[in-house]
Amino acid sequence: MTYVATIDRARLPELLSAEEQRFREAHPKSRALFERGRKVLLAGVPMPWMVKWAGGFPLFVESGQGGHFTDVDGHRYLDLCLGDTGAMSGHAPAATADAVRRQADRGFTFMLPTEDAVWVGEELQRRFGLPYWQFTLTATDANRAVIRLARLVTGRPKILVFNWCYHGTVDETFAVLRDGAVRPRPGNLGPPVDPAATTRVVEFNDIAGLEAELAHGDVACVLAEPAMTNIGIIPPAPGFHAALRDLTRRSGTLLVLDETHTICAGPGGCTRADRLEPDILTFGKAIGGGIPAAAYGCSAEVAERIATRMTLPEADTGGIGGTLAANAFSLAAMRATLSHQLSDASFAETIPVAAGFASGVAGVIREFGLPWTVQQLGCRAEYWFRPQPPRNGGEAAAAGDFDLERYLHLAALNRGILLTPFHNMALVAPGVTAGDMDRHTAAFRESVGALLS
Ligand SMILES: Cc1ncc(COP(=O)(O)O)c(C=O)c1O
Repeated sequence: MTYVATIDRARLPELLSAEEQRFREAHPKSRALFERGRKVLLAGVPMPWMVKWAGGFPLFVESGQGGHFTDVDGHRYLDLCLGDTGAMSGHAPAATADAVRRQADRGFTFMLPTEDAVWVGEELQRRFGLPYWQFTLTATDANRAVIRLARLVTGRPKILVFNWCYHGTVDETFAVLRDGAVRPRPGNLGPPVDPAATTRVVEFNDIAGLEAELAHGDVACVLAEPAMTNIGIIPPAPGFHAALRDLTRRSGTLLVLDETHTICAGPGGCTRADRLEPDILTFGKAIGGGIPAAAYGCSAEVAERIATRMTLPEADTGGIGGTLAANAFSLAAMRATLSHQLSDASFAETIPVAAGFASGVAGVIREFGLPWTVQQLGCRAEYWFRPQPPRNGGEAAAAGDFDLERYLHLAALNRGILLTPFHNMALVAPGVTAGDMDRHTAAFRESVGALLS
């Protein structure tokens, strides 16, 4: 295809500032809450990256239902961010809300199991094929736990991740490749040690690179998303997963698949859809329907190796878990969510709607002749500022464009649509319609059109 359009960069600051003004004027109550918050919250927000929301201050939420929410100024939004996957089943899904309401009357946390733990373990075993499960409050914690366990059972010090991955705030994973060397990821605050000491980094889909790094014999586990989702959607190249499994097995390295985002591919994530065979699997965010909850599962062989290395008197000081992990409230939420959401039926509804997002965006890209691309993975879709889909994190990161993203995010927000703040990702909840996608296409067309010379 011939690309006929180029973005007029000179217009970007002017358009962004017009959108910022529109945002400020439309959100006096959110703005007032932000100003009040500045006196008590660092940078005026409850956690650091919330400063990143385009507009100068975040929206304050009044309530959410399904794929929509309302802010304190009374505006209703189509939510394509969905708490960056935490609310993938939509806000306040009825069965989960009922279950946590019931559990609220029966106690939140005991440091003792409830029957729900067994039920959820059985269900996860059925979905992912791994026999043994444990629970944490976040996917970050699940990843931290399995890295420790992998080091324990292999006796090896390092892990291997793919360049520009994201697996939560896990120290070992905040490493990128720069000029072929492992470096701290930009923005990483106060890393405890140089990540080169803990981590090997390879580009996704680079089989030769993977083989070379595993050959050192010091890697306890490869921690990977089955398809990358956090630097754009990057599918595995044909044969990549077979090679990854083969190389990890041959080098005695455990394979950990993080399905926290790729659960968007279907009820058993990519693991089930693509018949993958991880030794360990982690799954957070959507598993609790928005209530803090996560899980990790392992093979019988890994379970056996763990069991032989743990002692009863020291079982509480292993560096894994926390007082509130596996609490009754989270387990009730997981049980209800896995019983009524994240099902074949919900994906049958949301995946075609996400396809509507992708085809709408692709239509605008074609119409204007832009050198951009759009990818879909299940009920998730994402556009990217490069003509071909990136094959790895390095290629994807090089095509990032902070100012352009910011403008497009804010323009969408001013037209009633919330996208994920980190890149150009849309996630579709049950109940969201093809008509909602058409609204996104129209907003995208208008804001992109304004940028063209
Ligand atoms: C693939 C993946 N794993 C783990 C996490 C960490 O999740 P949490 O922030 O809920 O701990 C994220 C967060 O974005 C993620 O995308």
